[in-house]
Amino acid sequence: MEVIIQPDSEKASFLAARLIKKIIQEKPKPVIGLATGNTPLLLYKFLVKMHREEGLDFSQVVAFNLDEYVGLPADHPASFHHYMWKNLFSQINIKPENVHIPDGLAKDIPSYCLQYEQEIKEAGGLDIQILGLGTDGHIGFNEPSSSLSSRTRIKTLTDQTRKDNAVFFGGEENVPYHAITMGIGTILDARTCLMLAFGKKKARAIALAVEGPITSMVPASALQLHPRAIILVDRDAASELKHLDYYQWVFEHKPEWQKF
Ligand code: F6R
Repeated sequence: MEVIIQPDSEKASFLAARLIKKIIQEKPKPVIGLATGNTPLLLYKFLVKMHREEGLDFSQVVAFNLDEYVGLPADHPASFHHYMWKNLFSQINIKPENVHIPDGLAKDIPSYCLQYEQEIKEAGGLDIQILGLGTDGHIGFNEPSSSLSSRTRIKTLTDQTRKDNAVFFGGEENVPYHAITMGIGTILDARTCLMLAFGKKKARAIALAVEGPITSMVPASALQLHPRAIILVDRDAASELKHLDYYQWVFEHKPEWQKF
C-alpha cells in the first residue's frame, strides 16, 4: 500500500486528478471505475477543469460506477446516476454509451449483476478504481462481513451507512435498504485502486484499513492484498495512523519516474 498524506483535501484531490489524467493520456481506451459521495467531489471538479483548460480528452474513456441504490430511478435526485451526470459526465466529453452505472431498477438483480461483471471484463478490466471509505470501513457498498472475494451483487446497507446518507434523502426513513455494488473481488481486480478519505471522521476507518488486520469486518483492509493500492488522505484522516512519519518519508523520497 502507498499511503500519501496531503495537507488538505484540495491538494489530495488534485494529486488524484493528476494520476487519472496520466492514465487517460497513456491508455488508448482507459477504463475508469468511479465512486460517488462527498469525497470525490473535488476530484471531479479538477477533472472538469483539466478538460476545459488543458483539453483532457474523455472521448475514449469507459466508465463504470461502483454502486447504485436499489429502487431508485436514474432521475431521482439522490441516485448515483443523477450525481454522476451532475458532477462529472455532463461537463466532460465522455460518450454516453461508455458510461456504466448499476441500474437500481433492474428486474432480475442476480443476472443483471453478472452482466455488469461481464461488461467490465469485455471493456478490458478496470485500469483504476476510485474509492471513498465508509465510516464503518466499507468500500463501494461492501459493508462489514462482506466476502473479500465478492463480485457485483445486492447488499443490505448498515444502519450506520443509512444514517450517514440520510441528508441526501431528507431523512433516514427515505434511505433505501439495499444497493447493487461491485464486490471486493471486483474492486481488487482493478489494475490500480485509489482510495480517498478526508476529515477526522474517517481517521479510525483509515487506521484500521491500513494498519489493522485484513478482515471482512473492515472491507477496505482488503486493499492490503492489492499490488497497487494508493491511499490518499488529508492530515485529519491520517491522524490515527501509527506510522505517519514513515509514509511521509516514503512519499518525499519517491523516485522521479514514480511521480504523478
Ligand atoms: C459511493 C460509495 C461509498 C462511499 C463512502 C464514503 O459510490 O461507494 O463507499 O465512497 O460511503 O462516502 P462519502 O464520500 O460521502 O463520505
